[in-house]
Amino acid sequence: MTSAAAAVATALRARIAIDDAAFDRLYPDHVARLSGLHWTPVSVALRATALLAPEPGMRVLDVGAGPGKLCCVGAAARAGTWRGIERDPALVAIAVETARLLEVDHKIRFDAGDALAVDWRGFDSVYLYNPFESQLFGGSFARTAAGAALADQVERTRARLDELAPGTRVVTFHGFGGDMPPGFTRVAIEATESPTTIPGGELALWIKRA
Ligand SMILES: C[S@@+](CC[C@H](N)C(=O)[O-])C[C@H]1O[C@@H](n2cnc3c(N)ncnc32)[C@H](O)[C@@H]1O
Repeated sequence: MTSAAAAVATALRARIAIDDAAFDRLYPDHVARLSGLHWTPVSVALRATALLAPEPGMRVLDVGAGPGKLCCVGAAARAGTWRGIERDPALVAIAVETARLLEVDHKIRFDAGDALAVDWRGFDSVYLYNPFESQLFGGSFARTAAGAALADQVERTRARLDELAPGTRVVTFHGFGGDMPPGFTRVAIEATESPTTIPGGELALWIKRA
């Protein structure tokens, strides 16, 4: 482990909200530059992962994992297993390398592909940080996201959420572009503060009712 990665891993294990710049230094420059707009800030990721994995052994899915920031923070700070699905294979390769650098790779699996084509029912918790926004903002990684229309992806997300078992937790940050389907109760909503991300990001915890 490099000394920079060791310092980040030690802080995250202690659940210390280090500056995003310290985490993003683990990424290549072109990916670090996208962080403020596209990757969950460390302070938000620490809170989100506490909501996603409050008990040991929980299985968490990050829908559209980017370069793996949420999963890496979760794997360092929390018990449980973390799975990220990301449609851009170049970002997946960076996520895998970052997990290896932080020595949390044994708790994480990253796959390239369409997260909406995967069955979400094997997970205790699902994280959605506005996965389809790249189509609105553009950006170098967005080319692979230029497939189905935004509205179609939002509807497919609602269908996946609808299938989840009672008790499944869903955490949204900046939403996902649509309304949660009936059957979910919003049990928490928190304003987030991060100097590095777009303003107004609310973290919401939803639980599927029996
Ligand atoms: C706002 S970023 C969030 C990244 C990460 N979850 C985080 O919180 O740091 C959304 C990501 O979702 C990816 N994405 C969009 N649609 C997807 C899909 N259908 N399947 C897999 N990944 C997708 C984008 O490429 C982008 O990397």
